[in-house]
Amino acid sequence: MKLDFTLICSRCERETDTGGTPNVCTECGAPLLAVYPLEEIAKDFRPESLEGRRWDMWRYREVMPLAADEEPVSLGEGGTPLLSLPASAKTAGVRELLVKEEGLNPTYSFKARGMSAAVTRAVAGGAKGFVAPSAGNAADALSAYGSRAGVPVRVYMPKDTPPLVIAECRALGAQVELIDGVISDCGVKAREFAKQTGYFDVSTLREPYRVEGKKTMGYEIAEQLGWSLPDAIIYPTGGGTGIIGMWKAFAEMETLGWLEPGKRPRMYVVQSSGCAPMVRAWESGAETAEPWKDPETIAWGLRVPGAIGDFLILRAVRESGGAAVAVSDEDLLAAADELLHHGVAACPEGGATLAALYRLRADGHIGPDDKVICFNTGAWIKYVE
Ligand SMILES: Cc1ncc(COP(=O)(O)O)c(C=O)c1O
Repeated sequence: MKLDFTLICSRCERETDTGGTPNVCTECGAPLLAVYPLEEIAKDFRPESLEGRRWDMWRYREVMPLAADEEPVSLGEGGTPLLSLPASAKTAGVRELLVKEEGLNPTYSFKARGMSAAVTRAVAGGAKGFVAPSAGNAADALSAYGSRAGVPVRVYMPKDTPPLVIAECRALGAQVELIDGVISDCGVKAREFAKQTGYFDVSTLREPYRVEGKKTMGYEIAEQLGWSLPDAIIYPTGGGTGIIGMWKAFAEMETLGWLEPGKRPRMYVVQSSGCAPMVRAWESGAETAEPWKDPETIAWGLRVPGAIGDFLILRAVRESGGAAVAVSDEDLLAAADELLHHGVAACPEGGATLAALYRLRADGHIGPDDKVICFNTGAWIKYVE
């Protein structure tokens, strides 16, 4: 099977073979990123090429980790709505506010995109089992795609993960291990298990393809806006694949000639004040983030004390002219309620983006003429307990 991209280390730029199941750079341990021959691809692949294709994330297959004749492991991920929120735009005092509704993905979160891409490549590379640590949303996404591919899955989650998520993973056939700790403690267990059994570790940015799935959020908003981008994107950030992926997508689309150069959005990271390692690093001007001690937040997707891709997240924020901001659980829940009042059944992480908008507007980071996209990364229903 011929794959038309290379894997390059995001830190030392060393190339890694795309065969089998690559993890991180064997030289320096940093995440690997897929690099496509975009100038070549641009000759045949244009926005018009998308006409008539299925409205899911694989419509961008030429810039995805997929061979020309290969079928992905798919459950119809992507193709989510971009909803206008005029009332909240008015309250915030911005020109336009849109919400990218990622809660409508398979297993109700944006994690489906990453797992579809990661499972597709790993199955083709010979993976016999999958293991991942998760705050919850990645676990049920992996359970679904593993089940779709007929490959066993083991997930490690904090023991206070909502029962609905645990039940869904089990119903999808995964082995669930509950850990007295947070996602980083689960990561240690997952890596031990992978070493003992040969299961493939699909932890965030410890394999190169989840970020490729997530980058399709960037392609999709550009397409939904008629090949233009907003002035600002506000994203709830934990491990950072969403923000890293979209920033990568915008660079790719510029090279493809699909976007006017120099018109990328400012990227705003939002975290909870109970776990804000990226915000602390951003405020101190650091290039990497120190792990956050005793993380606590109701937005369990944001209870991520450290990220292997911290330098990539901070770089995207810096290069874009954005910022990182922390909001309290009280404010993010109030904002999630506001989204619910407009019919968007948002998760607390999605609420955090609206709470961040109010803060960033008040601080002057975001101005009255800005068109802003907030990401609702998951569905309210999982948090019902
Ligand atoms: C609902 C939700 N939003 C955001 C995040 C953070 O995502 P990322 O790892 O892309 O930063 C997570 C991660 O678990 C999540 O579950």
